[in-house]
Amino acid sequence: MARVPLPRHNPAMLALQGRTALVTGGTSGIGLAVAKALAAQGAKVCVAGRDPTRLSQALAAIPGAHGMELDVADLPRCAALLPTLRADLVVANAGLALGIDKLHEGSCEEWDRVVDTNIKGVVHSFRHTVPWMVSQGRGDFVFVGSVAGRQAYPGGSVYCATKAAVRQLYEAARLDLHQTGVRLLTIDPGMVETDFSRVRFRGDAARAAAVYAGADPLRPEDVADALVYAVTRPPHVNIGEIVMWAARQASTTLLDRRP
Ligand SMILES: NC(=O)c1ccc[n+]([C@@H]2O[C@H](COP(=O)([O-])OP(=O)(O)OC[C@H]3O[C@@H](n4cnc5c(N)ncnc54)[C@H](OP(=O)(O)O)[C@@H]3O)[C@@H](O)[C@H]2O)c1
Repeated sequence: MARVPLPRHNPAMLALQGRTALVTGGTSGIGLAVAKALAAQGAKVCVAGRDPTRLSQALAAIPGAHGMELDVADLPRCAALLPTLRADLVVANAGLALGIDKLHEGSCEEWDRVVDTNIKGVVHSFRHTVPWMVSQGRGDFVFVGSVAGRQAYPGGSVYCATKAAVRQLYEAARLDLHQTGVRLLTIDPGMVETDFSRVRFRGDAARAAAVYAGADPLRPEDVADALVYAVTRPPHVNIGEIVMWAARQASTTLLDRRP
C-alpha cells in the first residue's frame, strides 16, 4: 500500500491556532506556565481556578485568555460549566498535597481535600469535557500526574496514592477512547519549583524554600515546553507518557543537593 509521505516538521505555531484549551489550576505554577505557552502558540485559552484575585492576575498575564471560577471538586459546577467551553485541549492540572504526615498520624480532613481535588477533580474534568472531543473525533486530554504516582516516598501516602490513581485513569481511558480519535497524555514531573510546597506546608515559606535549596529543580516552563511539544505532534502521533525529572533528582528520595 502506498504511503503518503509525512511532514518532517509540524510547526507548533500552526498546530494550536483554532484550538480551544482549558487549563484547570491555571492560576499558578505549572498550570499558569502551560496556559501562557498554549496562548503563545495561538490557542484560545480558558484558565480555571478557585480564587478570583489569582484568576484576574493570571488573565492579566495571558493576552486573549478568559477565566472560569471553578473548584474542580465541585461536581455540579463542573457539569454545568465545562461542556459549554467545547474545549478540544484540556489540561487537568489542578492539584495539591497537604502535609508530610504519616498515614497513621495525619489529618483525614486534609486528605479528603487532596482526594477530592486530585482524583475526583480529574474525573469531573474528564467526564464533562471529553464527550465534546469524542463527538468531534479529535482532541487532547492531558493528565498532570507526578513521579509520586510511580514511586511512593515517606510522608507522601495519600498524595502518592492520588497520583497513582491518575495514572490508572490514564491507562483505563486509553482503552475507553480507542477508535474515538481523542489522544491522551500523562505528564509526570519530578520536583518543580512552584507554590506546591508552600501549599503543602500550609503557608510556611521557609520550609517550602528548603525543599528546593541546592536542588536546581525543574521550572514550570520546562513542563509547559514538554506538554506543548506533545500536543502539537501530527494527528497520527500520540505521545502517551512523559516522565521528567530535575537532573539532580535520581528518585523521589535521592537528590544531589549542592551549595
Ligand atoms: N510542583 C511539583 O513539584 C509537582 C511535581 C509533580 C506534579 N505536580 C502537580 O502539578 C499540578 C500543579 O501543581 P503546581 O506545582 O503548579 O502547584 P501550585 O503552584 O500550587 O498550583 C496549583 C494550582 O491548582 C489550583 N487548585 C488547587 N485546588 C484546586 C481546586 N480544587 N480546583 C481548582 N483549582 C485548584 C490552584 O489555584 P487555587 O488554589 O487558587 O484554586 C493553583 O492554580 C498538581 O496537580 C501537582 O500535583 C507538581
